Amino acid sequence: MNARGSAHSRRSGVGVTRRGLLAATIGGSATALAGRLGRPFGVPAVLGASTGPVKVGVLLPYSKVYQQLGDDITSGMVLYFEGVKFGAGGRSITMIREDEEIDPQVALRKGRKLIENDNVDIISGLVASPSAVAIRDVVHNSKTLFLIANAGANVMTRARRSPYIFRVSFSNWQTSYPMGKWFYDNIARSCLVGAADYAAGHEDVDAFKASYLAAGGKVVAEVYPPLNNTDYGPYVTQMQKAKPEAIFVFFAGSDAARFVIQAAAFGLFKDARLAGPGFLVEEDVLPAQGRNALGAYSSLHWALTLQTPENLAFTRAYRARWQRDATVYAMQGYDTARVIVEALNATGGDTTNKSKLVEAVANVRFTSPRGPISFDPETHNVIQTVYVRQVREVGNTIHNVVFGNLGVFKDPGA
Ligand code: PHB
Repeated sequence: MNARGSAHSRRSGVGVTRRGLLAATIGGSATALAGRLGRPFGVPAVLGASTGPVKVGVLLPYSKVYQQLGDDITSGMVLYFEGVKFGAGGRSITMIREDEEIDPQVALRKGRKLIENDNVDIISGLVASPSAVAIRDVVHNSKTLFLIANAGANVMTRARRSPYIFRVSFSNWQTSYPMGKWFYDNIARSCLVGAADYAAGHEDVDAFKASYLAAGGKVVAEVYPPLNNTDYGPYVTQMQKAKPEAIFVFFAGSDAARFVIQAAAFGLFKDARLAGPGFLVEEDVLPAQGRNALGAYSSLHWALTLQTPENLAFTRAYRARWQRDATVYAMQGYDTARVIVEALNATGGDTTNKSKLVEAVANVRFTSPRGPISFDPETHNVIQTVYVRQVREVGNTIHNVVFGNLGVFKDPGA
């Protein structure tokens, strides 16, 4: 557990002591057993279904390229849960956190541990697409409610969707497809595309290309550095050789910070305009990128500077609680916690009747800091607005400013 991780535990009381965990686990097993065996005779429904805390397994990266993303999602969740005093539907809520390490094997082992040993009622989190895919079957077979707080792997709400899986964040298609036509109409008729070389990077680029090429755009070259990379020099040189007038690239976390800083140092942005899914220049990496990112265009379902009452309330509360700006990841964590709370309120805290719990989540809809959201009844992927943003100076700071609305998007589901 990293330093910020332990700070979460200390400040919020989220961390569980060994004895507390044992008690909670025993309580959870008893509840699960009662659920499996049917309610013991004479035990009122409410008691039979709702003893002990609701255990939320939080499986996130707390190390490597996406560490900050995991920290931000956790901070967002804690902020929302604190607002309801870590309780909903008459029960208290406990978070049990594990590091997915951006490794599908680790994600699977930790996912199993949360479901089989800790008997969590709900799994949430997952940042990296391959990690989310890795735990899909164990979640589905155990009928554990799974709320994805980031990982965009399209397949999770398409061919491998499950009644128990909902995505609060986005599908990889959803963040990049809307940008292709806009980019052709407003930025460049030809461009270079690139991404971290793994599932999410390729899905983002493919989605962008689908609408960019259909509009008439031309892709002059494609470049795919590895995920969790440090030296972008050779890749930037490759990009410069293609002499693109613009580039559309997917990088996130420390990859995004390093790519933008190094590409700027090589002079790539003197001739090529920079664009990508909003993670590329999101508020977690902007302080490090600074002026190197000025002018970058991006598509995303949120921005720090969205001037809605819900976003102003969220961004102010987040800054007051954590002394730093919110990010899209923090917002996704905050909304994931809200979905959990609203669903538990709807079931009166019952987590044993899985079809009721699923129905309660499916019916959750609210005005999030990002705008109105709901779940697609068919795919369980979030339906939301996608914005166009540009990195600009705002007073003496640098932020993503929304200057366009691409519309409301739901994943095509196939
Ligand atoms: C993903 O792996 O699905 C992923 C990771 C980080 C992001 C977006 C998507 O910022």
